[in-house]
Amino acid sequence: MLSIVFSSVILALLLTFSHKFLTGDGDFTLLSKGKVKRESFQDKVVWITGASRGIGEVLAKQLATLGAKLIISARNEPELERVKNQISGKHGPEGVEILPLDLSSGEDAIREVVEKAISLFGGAGVDYVIHNAAFERPKSTALDVPEASLKATLDVNVVGPISLTRLLLPHMLKKGKGHFVVMSSAAGKAPAPGQAVYSASKFALNGYFHSLRSEFYQKGIMVTVVCPGPIETSNAPATSTSSKEKRVSSERCAELVLVATSHGLKEAWISYQPVLAVMYLVQYMPSVGFWLMDKIGAKRVETAAKKGNTYSMNLLFGRKKE
Ligand SMILES: NC(=O)c1ccc[n+]([C@@H]2O[C@H](COP(=O)([O-])OP(=O)(O)OC[C@H]3O[C@@H](n4cnc5c(N)ncnc54)[C@H](OP(=O)(O)O)[C@@H]3O)[C@@H](O)[C@H]2O)c1
Repeated sequence: MLSIVFSSVILALLLTFSHKFLTGDGDFTLLSKGKVKRESFQDKVVWITGASRGIGEVLAKQLATLGAKLIISARNEPELERVKNQISGKHGPEGVEILPLDLSSGEDAIREVVEKAISLFGGAGVDYVIHNAAFERPKSTALDVPEASLKATLDVNVVGPISLTRLLLPHMLKKGKGHFVVMSSAAGKAPAPGQAVYSASKFALNGYFHSLRSEFYQKGIMVTVVCPGPIETSNAPATSTSSKEKRVSSERCAELVLVATSHGLKEAWISYQPVLAVMYLVQYMPSVGFWLMDKIGAKRVETAAKKGNTYSMNLLFGRKKE
């Protein structure tokens, strides 16, 4: 009798666990944290790069409703104005400063922007930086990426964010605290066939920021690296894509970024299946994960060229039609 009860409990646990794994939109640690801790952001200064659209815009709006003061950056000033005018929350649009920034403009130009950032809000300094700006080119094989494109991607996605961090970090160390939130990608954890350079840029960010944290953690510097899979944004809306890719909404993605940050997680993964399973495989069973990616890699690039579903299970099981 006891063994039947015990087996039933184990079975129930396994079913719950499997259901969560199959239907969840983040890694287990992240989903176990529950809600955003509002007090983490209330009256804090949060600098978001790439806030003129997409996930950055949604992050700005959610942070404003949590009572944060915002510095929003990107190249497109009219779009930043639009975002600012749509901000509600405790401080409203008055609690938002626009700081135009081109991450590929070099260290001297970025230094000027950093100096401005720390002088805003009465010289309050910056409590959080969300390194969200990036760009990704259409998928192609690694051979088809011209050198100019390689350099441009690494400048915006890696060199710019690192320069900004190097220039801001001394100010944070003086205050004895600061938190960098890094929008990496599932492509920064697992191979991303068709996106080799983008993937390289995200792996580089992961390496840099996890190392930086280990150097300065004892001095009050936090780093949260967030690795989203496919997210629904204006660039990739769920409704207009013919490819049936299942994407987490940008609202839910932003919410989970803020959950991870406010709970002090060092890394968080946001995605539906099958991308989440691939991330777990590559992290915990790399031989199996890499075998799987080698099996689907070439097909994924072909599928991308035909605008098909690049996250489909059909890539693995070999059906030609999407
Ligand atoms: N969407 C996804 O499925 C997905 C998945 C995984 C990871 N991510 C990551 O999440 C972040 C946001 O993605 P998203 O889809 O919301 O991106 P997005 O819609 O393409 O927006 C990118 C942002 O970066 C800014 N930006 C681009 N080049 C810049 C430059 N040279 N200097 C400064 N800012 C620049 C853009 O503004 P301007 O053009 O005005 O400069 C824009 O605000 C990125 O880091 C991305 O890699 C996204």
